[in-house]
Amino acid sequence: MNNGPVGVFDSGMGGISVLREIKKLMPDEKYIFYGDSKNAPYGTRTDEDVFGLTHNVFQTLMDKGVKAVVIACNTATSVAVRKLRAEYPDVPVIGMEPAIKPAVEENNGGRVVVMATPVTLRRPKFAKLMDKYSQDAEIIRMPAPGIVNYVEQGRLHDEGLKEYIKGLFSEIGERPADAVVLGCTHFPFVADEIKEAAGPQARLYNGNLGTARELRRRMAEKDLLCDGTEESTVEILNSAGEAQTELSWKLFTGELS
Ligand code: DGL
Repeated sequence: MNNGPVGVFDSGMGGISVLREIKKLMPDEKYIFYGDSKNAPYGTRTDEDVFGLTHNVFQTLMDKGVKAVVIACNTATSVAVRKLRAEYPDVPVIGMEPAIKPAVEENNGGRVVVMATPVTLRRPKFAKLMDKYSQDAEIIRMPAPGIVNYVEQGRLHDEGLKEYIKGLFSEIGERPADAVVLGCTHFPFVADEIKEAAGPQARLYNGNLGTARELRRRMAEKDLLCDGTEESTVEILNSAGEAQTELSWKLFTGELS
């Protein structure tokens, strides 16, 4: 079982930003990435819809014999991770969490903007994070559902995208953000655009490295790390077909950045 693949999935191509970090940390493993671009975005759907779609993709990966699964999507994690862990108690299931902890700890008393999908921001999982950290910083929720489609189309530096992001930041008032949490896995691909709108003082945070480390820890705990005797492979699948798969490869290799 140790030399089997790790499954990684997202509503679309955003999770490729997580896969990149995981591959860097554990270069010898095999990976199957599944992007559900046909059904993206998830972040503006009902919880029932998100759960149903997430469950289907999870099952698709399980059928391919994966030894662990990363839900490389904050939206799907916040809706489905608990139920999936209960349904598959023997499989390590690792999710995403908006990186509020490091953002607040490193910007105590400052202004921390959390960009994410509307679903992520309205779920109880997020409310818990707010309860935990809102004494230590001013935390501002910034729903940003409009970014996902640009990333899905590979339009990472589009003028319309820049205007959209600038518009979001113009609504938070005069005091600039000290930190911006990228609480959606699509957002690291447009980090430059976000940085430009947030201002040079703002530090950006995402949960990708944290998730990669957590995956390694959980796999080690269950003795699931590969033994290095087989070649690492990366397979990318996408429900929307050929064009999205090609775009995903370009994001993975950095050809599109
Ligand atoms: N990449 C997903 C996330 O991390 C959301 C994108 C979507 O709305 O489908 O939340």
